[in-house]
Amino acid sequence: MSEFSSRLIAWQKIHGRHDLPWQNTTDPYAIWVSEIMLQQTQVTAVIGYYAKFMQRFPSIVSLAEATQEEVLQHWSGLGYYSRARNLHHAAQRIMDEHHGEFPQDFESMQALPGIGRSTAAAIASFAFHQIQTILDGNVKRVLSRHFLVEGWPSKPSVEKILWSLAETLLPQQNMVAYTQGLMDLGATLCTRSKPKCDTCPLQVSCAAYRNQRVHELPTPKPRKTIPEKNTTMLILLDGDEVMLEKRPPTGIWGGLWSFPEAENIISSDLTLARFGITTQAGTPLAKLSHAFTHFKLHIEPRTFHIMHRKPSVAGVGQIWLSIDDAIAAAIPTPVRKILQSLQKKLAST
Ligand code: ADE
Ligand code: SF4
Repeated sequence: MSEFSSRLIAWQKIHGRHDLPWQNTTDPYAIWVSEIMLQQTQVTAVIGYYAKFMQRFPSIVSLAEATQEEVLQHWSGLGYYSRARNLHHAAQRIMDEHHGEFPQDFESMQALPGIGRSTAAAIASFAFHQIQTILDGNVKRVLSRHFLVEGWPSKPSVEKILWSLAETLLPQQNMVAYTQGLMDLGATLCTRSKPKCDTCPLQVSCAAYRNQRVHELPTPKPRKTIPEKNTTMLILLDGDEVMLEKRPPTGIWGGLWSFPEAENIISSDLTLARFGITTQAGTPLAKLSHAFTHFKLHIEPRTFHIMHRKPSVAGVGQIWLSIDDAIAAAIPTPVRKILQSLQKKLAST
């Protein structure tokens, strides 16, 4: 076995994490759910969501039989909602195509929606002790530093090098400690900023450390300016109820509940006219911004008190909820922030 792997395994056994809620199990479903949640979200943020999700959906069949609405509700606030939609679809596919048993075959795992090569490898190694390598953002950072691999790690040519490198390092046993060790080292010692090389078990063989180039690696992504978009969210208030609309099934916040939107203040008046309601402008709320991977969204919330509401206003895909119920619904984070500041405003007036 490579020195890299034996040092990593020995370190993980003593200094790694051993008590995360999805460890100490070989249930592929429990491991799968945790790996999907952890794809773009920090461990500390995942823990609470994971417990509630597993309590409500303890098995593949319970997830497959749930409505998308309820699955999204349990994901509300975690972001990257396609993860939840894919998880739900994949559970239904496992019922149809694999008799409800999570597939052990590495290729079949990757055929399921939302499971890429690295996630499949994590599940294969944790649940089935298969010898497969992970390569997520943390692992790319560790390898590019330790082996001084230059170039942005997600550039296809660089990524290819990292995959082969990762494969050559695989041990023949102790796959759980090895895989967890890669994750733990990247999360606790070989961090993006201020890596703790002084206590790192790989320091003796680390090329970036030896060449004093740790801070230069991994090579950052070539900068493109990310586009910015503006939207006006229309918060229609009828007594203590607000109106939410279900967003289309795909795209940003697909399937979640949100406020009606208009491009700007002028077109927001037209949108209200289209709903056939008479309103009076309400308390102003602070603007807010939300960063997505591919763009930044600037949101201007505007509140309106309804004077006359025609029965037609709660149309298809629209719902009136009390602010408390709305906060508990399947809504994205900025909508929750707006509702919470509204709740505060109303309580103080
Ligand atoms: N990130 C991705 N998978 C993880 C795991 N199993 N434990 C801790 N962090 C992770
Ligand atoms: Fe990362 Fe530093 Fe360890 Fe090298 S010595 S693997 S840069 S923490």
